Amino acid sequence: MGDIIELIKSRRTIKHFLPKFVSWENISKIIDAARHAPSCGNLQNWKFLVVLDSNLKQAVAEAAHEQYEIAIAGALIIVLGEPEKAERYYSLRGERLYTVQNCAAAMENMLLEAHSLGLGTCWIGAFDEEAIRMMFKIPENIRPQAIVAVGYPKEIPPKPPKYPLEAVIYFHKWRNKVRDPAKYMNDIAVILARRTEKIKEAVQKGTQFIVDKAKETIKEREEREN
Ligand SMILES: Cc1cc2nc3c(=O)[nH]c(=O)nc-3n(C[C@H](O)[C@H](O)[C@H](O)COP(=O)(O)O)c2cc1C
Repeated sequence: MGDIIELIKSRRTIKHFLPKFVSWENISKIIDAARHAPSCGNLQNWKFLVVLDSNLKQAVAEAAHEQYEIAIAGALIIVLGEPEKAERYYSLRGERLYTVQNCAAAMENMLLEAHSLGLGTCWIGAFDEEAIRMMFKIPENIRPQAIVAVGYPKEIPPKPPKYPLEAVIYFHKWRNKVRDPAKYMNDIAVILARRTEKIKEAVQKGTQFIVDKAKETIKEREEREN
C-alpha cells in the first residue's frame, strides 16, 4: 500500500481482533510515526505508554467503559499529553487546545502507520481517566488523552458513510457553498479536462453514428442486390 490517500480512505476502526502477538518491531514503528507528527512549537509534549500484559489490558478495557473487545488486541498504547509544557509557552490555549491537537495528530499517524503494516486499530476516547491514571501511576500533571488498540483484525467492517466533499466546504464565509469550485477558482486544468472529456464523448457519438449509418447502407444495398 503506497498511496497515502488510499491508506487514509481504507483505514477502518477495528473493534474485533485476533488473539495474535504484535511484534515490537511493529509497535515501535507505530510509535515512531507518532513522534514525527506536528506539534505546537515542536514541543512534542507527549508520551506513549505501552500495555502488553493480558491482565492490564483487561483492566484498561474495563476502564474504557467495558469495551472488553480491545483486551484481545496485541497492544494498547495510551497517549499521554504533557499540558504543562505547552502552557509554559502558549498559556491556556497551549494547555487546553494545542496539547489535545498535538496528541490527536500523533494518534492519526499511529493509525495510518499501523494500517500500512497490515494491522488494525481502534481509537479509544471513552475511558475513565482517573482509573487509567491510578492503574499506571500517572501523575496529576499528565493527561491520558486517548488509547490506541493495535492488533490483527478479525474482520474489517464496511466503510461508514462519510459526508461528501461539497458538504464540508465553505468558501470565504460561514455556510457559503460553491456549486462548482473549479469554475469559481478558474482552475484551467480542470475546466480544460472537462471540455476535452465532452469533446471525446461527442467524437465517440459521431463516430458511432457514422458506423451505424454505414452498416445500414450496406444492409440496404445487400437487400436490394438479393
Ligand atoms: C476522539 C475519538 C474518540 C473515539 N472513541 C472511541 C471509543 O471509545 N470506542 C470506539 O469503539 N471507537 C471510538 N472511536 C472511533 C470512532 O467510532 C470511528 O472513528 C468512527 O466510527 C468512524 O469509523 P472509521 O474510523 O472506520 O472511519 C473514536 C474516535 C475518535 C476520533
